[in-house]
Amino acid sequence: MMILGSMPHSEVLIALVLCCLPSLEATLWYPKSLPCDVKANGNTVNVDCTERALENVPLGIPGNATNVTLTINHIPLIKLSSFQGLESLIEIDLRCNCVPIKIGPKDHVCSKSMAIENGSFLHLRNLKSLYLDGNQLSSIPRGLPPGLTLLSLEVNNIHTILKENLSELTNIEVLYFGQNCYYRNPCNVSYHIQEGAFFHLENLTLLSLKSNNLSYVPRKLPASLKELYLYNNNIEKKGRSVIFLDVQTCQHSSLSIILCVLLTSLVLGFITLSISTHLFLWDMWYTYHFCLAKLKGYSHLSSQATIYDAFIVYDKKDQAVSDWVLQELQVHLEEQGDPPLQLCLEERDWIPGCPLIDNLCESIQQSKKTVFILTNKYIRSGNFKTAFYLAHQRLMDEKADVILLIFLETFPRHSKYLRLRKRLYRRSLLEWPSNPQAQPYFWHCLRSAMLTEGHRQYNKLFQETL
Ligand SMILES: *[C@@H]1O[C@H](CO)[C@@H](O)[C@H](O)[C@H]1NC(C)=O
Ligand SMILES: *[C@@H]1O[C@H](CO)[C@@H](O)[C@H](O)[C@H]1NC(C)=O
Ligand SMILES: *[C@@H]1O[C@H](CO)[C@@H](O)[C@H](O)[C@H]1NC(C)=O
Ligand SMILES: *[C@@H]1O[C@H](CO)[C@@H](O)[C@H](O)[C@H]1NC(C)=O
Ligand SMILES: *[C@@H]1O[C@H](CO)[C@@H](O)[C@H](O)[C@H]1NC(C)=O
Ligand SMILES: *[C@@H]1O[C@H](CO)[C@@H](O)[C@H](O)[C@H]1NC(C)=O
Ligand SMILES: *[C@@H]1O[C@H](CO)[C@@H](O)[C@H](O)[C@H]1NC(C)=O
Repeated sequence: MMILGSMPHSEVLIALVLCCLPSLEATLWYPKSLPCDVKANGNTVNVDCTERALENVPLGIPGNATNVTLTINHIPLIKLSSFQGLESLIEIDLRCNCVPIKIGPKDHVCSKSMAIENGSFLHLRNLKSLYLDGNQLSSIPRGLPPGLTLLSLEVNNIHTILKENLSELTNIEVLYFGQNCYYRNPCNVSYHIQEGAFFHLENLTLLSLKSNNLSYVPRKLPASLKELYLYNNNIEKKGRSVIFLDVQTCQHSSLSIILCVLLTSLVLGFITLSISTHLFLWDMWYTYHFCLAKLKGYSHLSSQATIYDAFIVYDKKDQAVSDWVLQELQVHLEEQGDPPLQLCLEERDWIPGCPLIDNLCESIQQSKKTVFILTNKYIRSGNFKTAFYLAHQRLMDEKADVILLIFLETFPRHSKYLRLRKRLYRRSLLEWPSNPQAQPYFWHCLRSAMLTEGHRQYNKLFQETL
């Protein structure tokens, strides 16, 4: 009886061993000591070594790795041997290994730029994308593989671009050179681009030169170029502001420029007119976080001096909203009107590749107001929710109501939260008017709401209960 009874047990055991062995093996195909997460998915093998306090490119990255992320580490030197044996790589992300002092972390100030040995990437014949933002590089690396199609060098110290600096990038399609000279990463000189420096790059479709202290529009650009970003520079404007030029569609005549402007207005008009769907999110959201904050208690964030008048939260993936922010809001508040306001715009002032939450927190803390530019699609997105939550934390924490809401679409009337908010602090809710004649009044209201302190606007009764 006993012998018979133990039989199934050993069978189960053998079966267990048999089915577990292959899966154990499968998880051990790269060294356990590799301080990164490895994920294989179809043909990509993604090695993520974000924020591991690394001082070298780690050993043991699997030979079939296609994407390697090494952002937010302290790697000071890329050697010829750093990526040896990793010929499958198609993307290397080395952002934020030496962020400029004014932007970088205060607990790990980086004062010496990353160094890259000439030719460290040359043997990577499959490499398509290389991100080197936030490393204080003062020159464009040499010895890059000729197959490279994307090179990103934002937030570095590159202030001059000559034709010879780009001679190896024969197949390049996308070049990011922005944020190399602006108030958070000053270079103290005027940005210089040699005439025709980009002309020979026959496959170039996107060139970003935003926030570079450039005083002119670069000339002799390649015919393949479709997008050129020049906002937040020092370019003299003649009537129309030069923020974003869609070269392909607006190149030929003033008629097409007019068409372009008309199309943009049409898209904006469409957004404004479209009617919102039901929305109770506000109410739930507000109640939930009010309770949470009360229960949890909140850590008092050390009050830094505010450096911006307002942080603008918007859906930067939505081209129409993005255009509205950069061409209307930015122009009206920063460039026109008195006093000029200093805005914090994600596309312009954030450090690419650094973690979203740090940027968000810092931007909300460093701004007197947080202005949400809302569409119904955006309200449902995760990015909006996080930002809204953080701005509300400030209300709970410092009793500072920093929130202004701008609706580009019809304001959801049935929301109790919004109704209450309107009663408490009328000026914190604004709607973009579809009638162009009402727009000057809109800008007046927005400006005055931004310049007054939130809780002073509250009804006395509510002030006490808050
Ligand atoms: C990568 O190589 C390992 C073995 O070295 C193999 O187990 C794995 O399936 C490979 N992954 C891909 C996506 O090629
Ligand atoms: C890997 O890199 C390629 C090329 O840059 C990119 O298109 C792809 O999205 C990356 N995959 C992952 C999982 O990051
Ligand atoms: C980089 O190395 C290549 C040969 O690999 C050489 O032709 C080139 O002159 C070097 N460039 C610099 C700036 O040292
Ligand atoms: C451009 O090339 C010149 C001459 O080789 C060099 O001195 C300079 O540092 C390079 N600039 C950049 C931004 O790479
Ligand atoms: C541009 O890209 C095409 C394929 O997309 C390629 O055939 C051509 O050789 C490239 N041109 C240059 C100058 O590299
Ligand atoms: C620009 O000037 C600021 C303030 O004087 C200084 O901290 C910074 O190092 C200078 N930057 C360069 C690239 O010279
Ligand atoms: C922009 O260039 C001017 C000289 O043209 C210089 O005085 C100024 O400091 C530069 N701005 C920044 C942010 O470096």
